[in-house]
Amino acid sequence: MLDYANLVGARALNDPAATNAVQIVLSGSTRDSAHGSLYMPKFGLAYSDTEIAAVANYITARFGSSPSNITAANVRDLRKEVSK
Ligand code: HEM
Repeated sequence: MLDYANLVGARALNDPAATNAVQIVLSGSTRDSAHGSLYMPKFGLAYSDTEIAAVANYITARFGSSPSNITAANVRDLRKEVSK
């Protein structure tokens, strides 16, 4: 079993709306596992809506089966739903 996340096959990357992918990139994650604490930094404060849309469209195309084609406006809406 992998101790760390592997984007290949990740369900979030098969969503053409890229909702979960954008949210985790915006707000990161901290979770306890049997192998210790897993952590992903938040990128929401460091990158623009345009940049985050671009990375979401890249990772869904590169690692998922249903590439997203989201815009900066989609990311702006998703920012309202996540912690800063
Ligand atoms: C631009 C860079 C990054 C992108 C685009 C990205 C993207 C993602 C995505 C889409 C997921 C969800 C995967 C799923 O659905 O299973 C995820 C999970 C995760 N990422 Fe990242 N990630 C990035 C950088 C990082 C970094 C730098 C770290 C660690 C230092 C990291 C650690 C993790 C961990 C531990 C998870 C699993 C979180 C959980 O299951 O709660 N990520 N990442």
